[in-house]
Amino acid sequence: MKPATIRDPHPTIRRKGAVVEVLDQLALPGRIVYRRCDSAEKMATLIRTMVLRGAPLIGVAAAYGYALAAKKSSSPLALKRAAARLLATRPTAVNLRWGLERMSRAAQRYKGPRLFENLMREADAIRKEDIAANARMAAFGAKLIKKNSTIITHCNAGYLATAGVGTAVGVVRHAFRRGKIKMVYADETRPYLQGSRLTMWELMQDKIPCALLTDGMAAHIMKTEKIDAVFVGADRIAANADTANKIGTYGLAIAARAHKVPFYVVAPASTFDMRIKNGDAIPIEERSITEVLNIAGHSIAPRGADARHPAFDVTPARLITAIVTDRGIVKPANRRQVKAVLRRTA
Ligand code: MRU
Repeated sequence: MKPATIRDPHPTIRRKGAVVEVLDQLALPGRIVYRRCDSAEKMATLIRTMVLRGAPLIGVAAAYGYALAAKKSSSPLALKRAAARLLATRPTAVNLRWGLERMSRAAQRYKGPRLFENLMREADAIRKEDIAANARMAAFGAKLIKKNSTIITHCNAGYLATAGVGTAVGVVRHAFRRGKIKMVYADETRPYLQGSRLTMWELMQDKIPCALLTDGMAAHIMKTEKIDAVFVGADRIAANADTANKIGTYGLAIAARAHKVPFYVVAPASTFDMRIKNGDAIPIEERSITEVLNIAGHSIAPRGADARHPAFDVTPARLITAIVTDRGIVKPANRRQVKAVLRRTA
C-alpha cells in the first residue's frame, strides 16, 4: 500500500519557533489569513470560535495549546488548568481529549528545565503523525472506489480538517489521482457551511469535478442519479462503531441505505473512543441558535423565532458499510472488528 503524497499550499497549522500559526477558516474561501497564537488561552479561543475546526486538526491544535501553556508556567497545576480550558472548547470531537492526554503524559516524562521546547516537539510529532495517518487512510480508502465513481460527501473532512491530506476528502483526492472519480457532490452543511465554503474550495483547487448540494437534496440525487458511495469523516466513534459526525450525517446514512449506496466513514485511530460502549454516550455539542437563525450576518427567520442547534448527530453502526482507519478497514462496522483493527500498529 503506497501512502498518498499530496502537498497543500496553505497548511492548516504551522509552527514558527515559539509561536503557532493557524489558517483562519472563517475567512475562507475569500481570503488566506493566518492567526498567530502564543498561549493556551488564545488557542482555546481559536478552537471555540471555529477559526480552526475538524476533529483531527482540533486534536493537533489542542496539543500545541498545551505546549504553549508551559511557556508561561511549568507548574503541574497551571498545565492541568490549561488542559481543562482547552478540553471544554468542543465537546464532541474526542481527538481533543486524545491530544491533551498524550501531552499530559509527555509533560510527566519531560519534567525539567526544557519542558516547553520538549512539549512543542511532542506537538510537532502529533502533527506529523496526523499527516502520515491521513496518507495511509487515503490509500486504504481509495481501494474501495470503483472507476468512474460519483461520490457524495458531507461537511468538510478534507485537508482543512486535519494536518494532512484530509480523511474522507483525502480518500477522494487519492482516488481522483488514480482516475477513479467522475464527480463529487458536496453537501453545503448548514449552518456553518463547511461543505460550500471549505470542501468545494478544496475540490475546486484540486480541479476535481464537483457540485454543491443543499443538505436536503442528497436523497433526491441518490434516487435520480447513479451515486456510487458516500464518504464522510467522524468526530467520535464508540467501541461498537456508532459514529458521531456533523449534523446531517445520520440522515444521509439513512438515505444511502434506502438507495443501497455504500456509506463509508474515514477516521484515524485517535477518533475512536473505546471508553464508551455505544453512540448514546457521545456528548453532542449544542451551539448557539443565532448561528441557525442567521447566514453571513443576515437574519433568515422572523424576529424572535426559536431554533435548535445540535452541531453533530450519531449514525448507528448498522448503517455504516465500513470504517477506513489508518490501521486498516473496519468491515463490518461492529465492536469485534473495531477492536481487531485498532489492535494493529499503524
Ligand atoms: O464543527 P466542525 O466543522 O469541527 O465539524 C467537523 C466535522 O464534523 C468533520 O466531518 C469531522 O471532524 C471529520 S474531519 C476529518
